[in-house]
Amino acid sequence: MAAPDFDALFTAAARIQPRAYAPYSRFKVGAALLADDGAFYVGCNVENAAYPVGACAEAGAISAMIAGGAKAISALLVFGEGAELVTPCGACRQRIREFASSETPIVIAGPEGVRARFSLEELLPASFGPANLPR
Ligand code: THU
Repeated sequence: MAAPDFDALFTAAARIQPRAYAPYSRFKVGAALLADDGAFYVGCNVENAAYPVGACAEAGAISAMIAGGAKAISALLVFGEGAELVTPCGACRQRIREFASSETPIVIAGPEGVRARFSLEELLPASFGPANLPR
């Protein structure tokens, strides 16, 4: 498969980020992923008055990917503001892991552009996945 178009991923994530529903944290996040079908899928965080019920942007993008019929993540980009890197939370690292490989790029971006690039293995080493379950 061709190298992921990170510029297109950045544009897609930056475009969806303002749509986030984040009235409690006021921290809007956009995520865009390139899937194995060649399509881009996006998500944004959706918070809830019952705080723990809120969902991360990455979870939304993965749901869109599965609903769209794709099966695997080829690359994922997270877009957020603030001085710190907006890296996926622990739960989302595991969500990504279900549909990605250890080499899958996870790119972190802010309004000015790409800030850092990791592999899934760097963010979630020695992880547990589908193959760890007995058949
Ligand atoms: N959040 C995401 O959507 N993705 C991340 O990678 C980090 C955090 C959301 C969760 C919550 O709605 C808000 O950002 C503050 O944590």
